[in-house]
Amino acid sequence: MKKLFLLMCILCLSSRLLIAQEPIRIQTKNTELILRVENKELKQVYFGEKLPESGTILNERGRYPAYSAFGLGEQNEVALHAVHADGNTSTKLDFVGVTQAQEGDDVTLTTIQLKDPVYPFFTTLYYKAYVNNDLIECWSEYKHQEKKPVTLYQFASGQLSLKNRSYWLTHFTGDWAGEFNEKQVELTEGIKIIDTKLGTRATFYNHPVSFISLDKPATEDEGEVVGLALAWPSNYRFLFEKNSQQELRVLAGMNPYASQYRLKKDEVFKTPSLMYSYSKNGKGEISRNFHSWARTHWLHNGDKDRYSLMNNWEATYFSFDEPALQSIIQDASKMGFDLFLLDDGWFGNKHPRNSDNAGLGDWQVNKEKLPNGIGWLVKECVNNNIKFGIWLEPEMVNPKSELFEKHPDWVIQQPNREHRLFRNQLVLDLSNPKVQNFVFETVDQLLKENPDIAYVKWDCNRAITNGGSTYLAPEEQSHLWIDYGRGFLSVMDRVRTNHPDVHFMLCGGGGGRLDYGSLKYFEEYWPSDNTDALQRVFIQWGNSQFFPAIAMCCHVSASPNHQTQRRTPLKFRFDVAMSGKLGMDLQPRSMNENEIQFAKEAINTYNRIKNTIFTGDLYRILSPYENNVATLNYVSPEKDKAVFYAYRLKSHISEVSPKYKMKGLDPDKKYKLNEINIFPGEGSSISGLQETYTGAYLMNSGLSLRLNGDYDSVVLEVEEII
Ligand code: DGJ
Repeated sequence: MKKLFLLMCILCLSSRLLIAQEPIRIQTKNTELILRVENKELKQVYFGEKLPESGTILNERGRYPAYSAFGLGEQNEVALHAVHADGNTSTKLDFVGVTQAQEGDDVTLTTIQLKDPVYPFFTTLYYKAYVNNDLIECWSEYKHQEKKPVTLYQFASGQLSLKNRSYWLTHFTGDWAGEFNEKQVELTEGIKIIDTKLGTRATFYNHPVSFISLDKPATEDEGEVVGLALAWPSNYRFLFEKNSQQELRVLAGMNPYASQYRLKKDEVFKTPSLMYSYSKNGKGEISRNFHSWARTHWLHNGDKDRYSLMNNWEATYFSFDEPALQSIIQDASKMGFDLFLLDDGWFGNKHPRNSDNAGLGDWQVNKEKLPNGIGWLVKECVNNNIKFGIWLEPEMVNPKSELFEKHPDWVIQQPNREHRLFRNQLVLDLSNPKVQNFVFETVDQLLKENPDIAYVKWDCNRAITNGGSTYLAPEEQSHLWIDYGRGFLSVMDRVRTNHPDVHFMLCGGGGGRLDYGSLKYFEEYWPSDNTDALQRVFIQWGNSQFFPAIAMCCHVSASPNHQTQRRTPLKFRFDVAMSGKLGMDLQPRSMNENEIQFAKEAINTYNRIKNTIFTGDLYRILSPYENNVATLNYVSPEKDKAVFYAYRLKSHISEVSPKYKMKGLDPDKKYKLNEINIFPGEGSSISGLQETYTGAYLMNSGLSLRLNGDYDSVVLEVEEII
């Protein structure tokens, strides 16, 4: 009794215990989620704009279960479906208690305990409110003390209910070199699922983010929108179920497809986090909420500067030697890049990595290409005052490798079936702790032996097929998809604990692996193997809906482009790449003097403006999906600086040119404009440039810009005049 009293005192000091009948209010600066307990059931009363401290809605009854379970009253898709040790397929989630605690300045954590009244099966729901970012993170945990394992068939991270006239779902589809295409559909009665079953390269076809626009299609600046993102690198599922009453149930979490999980006594099953954000001011505000939250609370080193880098992939592919790399390093340094990134092809001796058919898994330097080892390259970079980074694909193996010869049982495979290759490679089984250790040690040792490695590009070039494991027991084979995701995150956690300052790029053969679960351990990501500037306008537009510019690697590459064969001016390529984190994937020796000079100045300019791009608020203005031009701008938090971009995608002779308006400035501030990246010999693009403009003028009247022909572009630096 004494102990219990003491525990209560401690809990009260660190957090606030709520009385069940009070509404449970999970609040951010402008939004809130209200839950209430009725007859022991946890209900959702409200989700939307923040409400006054008192009012009738707070006394309303909740219509929707906050977290539904299969088997009793439910007639819809559920968040939890557990089959108990005795075969009972139902679970009741009775309310036990709730606490609210402050976690740092602007974060609160609400923890709600639920328990089945008959079975020792416990569910905990967590809601973390990021107050200043208007974003809620939620996840759940299950545990039991039944005598035998409980089998989990559904295990959503979170559930949301909405009641509106109509719902418009914006989701994002993709493929290799064609990621993040925006699609919008009206949800009709029934179920719409956005999911993946690919395991490793999970986001290859569908990205784990979406918007639900309420009552009408989504716009950038007005209307009620909810943005959702799941933090999970393996199979995921978003499920939207609309009924005849126009009610919408949203469930999101790990994909239950072929993934039933036998939960042992006392084992804790934790779901990944689901983030959601509500705005009555359109998608643009949701994007800004996600961007600022990611920079402040989520991305690894989210608030630190980034390296602008030169990557040798499109410059050399697999064929390089020391002199070839030396020349790229020297040129990259002269142009002003911060880092040289050595891509695929540097390893393997018995099975040299001269193409994608051999060597993966054998992480020793190829002695023929690099007789002096990584150390020599690092030194070469140091001598040229530039940092060094390296490519790895540590979760994969070629059958033609020493690793596979030694550990054929380490690959994902089905018994008595032939291997199925993709890009000539197989996936290592990260559900196996031994394999996790191998992957961790590969990276850890490389970084320990070469402490000057400042950057790692972590690639992942195939999805899982033949999903079986020699490590998992026969009755646990269906755990593979979940245990792989957990294995990957656990390896990343260990790597980042030992190497917190090395920068990591998340790459899945382009954007085939991009989710907030992985991004917790990465500084940045590679959005696409498609580096064609025109297509990048669309791909980057899509990525910007949920992921911040500071993390989006955008590289200037060759013309004609290697993927599309399109020819575009160097200025256009720089102007597009400079709206994210700038880099280059191009043989500098193919550039002429004028181009080198232009690149030097552009990189110099980028260093001056990048802070606004990295930490500013993004406003998307003219969409490339709706116009022959695309425009956007970033505005610093103090609204004293901005960078504006206009891209002409296609020219039509009879087309009336738009007025180019900015967004997000202070209407009363006075600004001056500076056109940057003017190519030698070309004049200014602004018609009738004035010395000062008010923010109101720039946003409401707009500029006349000369954008002539396909792939013309303008970038303006905007600065307050004090
Ligand atoms: C796929 C990546 O997306 C490319 O940038 C490059 O690193 C290749 N893999 C190397 O194999």
